[in-house]
Parts: sequence; C-alpha cells; structure tokens
Amino acid sequence: MHRNPSPPDGLPLPDEAGQERLLLLDLVRSTEAAALRAARLMGKGDPDAVELEAAEGMRGMLNQLPFRGRVVIRAGPGRPSGQLLPGERIGGGGAGTPELDVAADPVEGPRLVADGLPNALSVFVAANAGSLHSVRCQYMNKIAVGPRGRGRIDLRAPVRENLRAVAAAMRRKIRDLTVVILNRPRHTALIQDVRSIGARIKLISDGDLAASLAAAMEDSGVDVVLGIGGSAEAVLSAAALRCVGGEIQAEPWFADDASRIQYLAEGHAPEKVFTTEDLAAGPGIILAATGITDGDLLRGARFQGDRARTFSVLMRARTGTIRFIETFHNLAGISEKRGGYLPPAR
Ligand code: FBP
Repeated sequence: MHRNPSPPDGLPLPDEAGQERLLLLDLVRSTEAAALRAARLMGKGDPDAVELEAAEGMRGMLNQLPFRGRVVIRAGPGRPSGQLLPGERIGGGGAGTPELDVAADPVEGPRLVADGLPNALSVFVAANAGSLHSVRCQYMNKIAVGPRGRGRIDLRAPVRENLRAVAAAMRRKIRDLTVVILNRPRHTALIQDVRSIGARIKLISDGDLAASLAAAMEDSGVDVVLGIGGSAEAVLSAAALRCVGGEIQAEPWFADDASRIQYLAEGHAPEKVFTTEDLAAGPGIILAATGITDGDLLRGARFQGDRARTFSVLMRARTGTIRFIETFHNLAGISEKRGGYLPPAR
C-alpha cells in the first residue's frame, strides 16, 4: 500500500529568495488597498484626492508587512503632499526582515481616475537595496517592448528601423503592430512618423506605465511604447520588463533649459541611454499591480455594497512567474485598524 511520506519536522527559515516569494503575495494587499480607495473616487473630478487616498491606503498596508523599505523614486513630481517620497522608510519589519528598495505609484494616472477613463492602476515594486535607479530628471524619452522585441530595439535608431525590427521579430507586418504614445504636443512629429510608417497607434491621455505593463504581456494588444513620459514610470516599467524578459531603453529629456542645467550641475551625463538593467538591476525584483479602472492588462475595481472585487498581477524576476489574482473583498469584515483597505470614517 502506498503511504504518503511524513512531513519534515520543521522547515528551515526561508532564504532571501523564499522571503521574497512570501512577501510578494502579501504586497498585493498594498496595491489592492490603493486601488480600492482610488476607485471609490472614480469620476469625481479630483485627481489630488485620488492620489492622496491611494497613497494613504498603500502606506497603511505596507506598514503592516514584514520588510524594511526605502523609497527611491518619486512618481509624479509636483503632486500633493502625502505621496511616497524618496528617502521615506516604509514597511513594518524589524531586524532580520529584508531591506529593500521601493518604487511605487499608488495611482498611475490620477487624472484617468478622476475622469473615469481606462488604464489607471496602482503599482508597487521592491528590489534588493541599491538595485533600482533613483532617476534625477522628471522625464525620459523611451522605447519599450515585450519579450519578443527584446534585443531588437535601439532608442537612437530611426523609429522606422525599430518598428521594422520588432515586426520581424514578432513575425508580423508593421501595419499589424500597435504602438502606444502619450498624446502630447511634444509628440506631434513622432505620431506623424509612426503614421507614415503604417503601424497602428493608440494615443493615450495618461498612463505610459500601464502601456509598458501591457506590452510586457503577449496578446495584450500593445506591442511597442514610444515617446517621452515620466522617469519614475521608466523605472517601474523596467522592473516589469525585467520580470518577463522584455526591454526598455530610456534617456533623460528636459522640458526646459533650467531642468537640463540642474541635471548637469548634479554631475549626470545627459546623453546616457539607460538599459532595462540600468534602471532595475539584480535578480530580486518583485512587482504587484492592481487595476483601478478597466485597462488593457487588468480590469478595474468593482463595488457592490459591502463587497468589492479587484484584479491584480504579480511578477517576480528571479523565476519569471506571473500570477493574476482576482480578490473578493468583504469590506464589512475589514476593520480600519487592520489595514489600508478602507478610508478612515469622515
Ligand atoms: P502620474 O501617475 O505620475 O500622474 O503619471 C501619469 C502620466 O501620464 C504617466 O503615465 C506619464 O509618464 C506622465 O504622466 C507624463 O507626464 P506629463 O503629463 O507631464 O506629460
């Protein structure tokens, strides 16, 4: 008769990779909390309130998790106070818990939420200390592709060459590629260029990080992300692309002379093209993201009385594992003291 082997007497404490695995499953609570709080304010026309609510939810949840984090980048400079700021210590862990770099955007696209538009999400990334680049400029010019485009892009090459190379790698015609570009006056020439090459274009009002996350996944309907967007979004995109084997290249871009001069005065090389690994290095990268409004990759939060539903993705660079998590929240059962899921009673 077959007998199951008896369980081991006691499993050893998890090593670094094991701690990372356990933490990732917990971290999704922080993006869920941020997403639920932000989503409650959908369509109310107040991006600052969305932003603050989400940051509070994320911070509240992170401070209950066993790690010691240091925020390394600021998403959305000029945002209302209350944001996660570089240098801030976050996480509720004590001695012996992992020390991690943290990059987060509690709401990628607060204006999208304020107007009830698609593709707003909440994103959190943690990595071994010292492995996320603390970019010092507000904007970067970027090109991002999923795994099949990796090794085929060159930010300095003409757009036509990049699209031709990516299309060939994906065994597609250029006219079947979908390129996402932020709809900004600074992209007028780029948009004309891509149109003349014949690729399909999705112009977005906000959210080039959501676009990169979608490009990371096969069959999301997004193949290439092009143009100038936030630097924090470049780092967060790099983390996601590291997890799936995609690629981003990004170089600093300056909206005015003053910001360029300041960047130079701080001793940075303005011409440097940052690779995926420059922006997010090392094996220990983990990412959690939760949809706020419906998007290419994730559905948005849904509410019904005391119940809510969220849709999240978890990624881990060490193994390349991707998990989609659908969570049914019993809001009545969540006490304020326990977490950041609910805003404090007002
Ligand atoms: P935030 O979530 O930081 O507000 O970013 C929204 C966003 O659309 C990003 O996706 C994008 O990279 C950046 O703003 C573009 O900046 P700008 O609106 O100044 O062109």
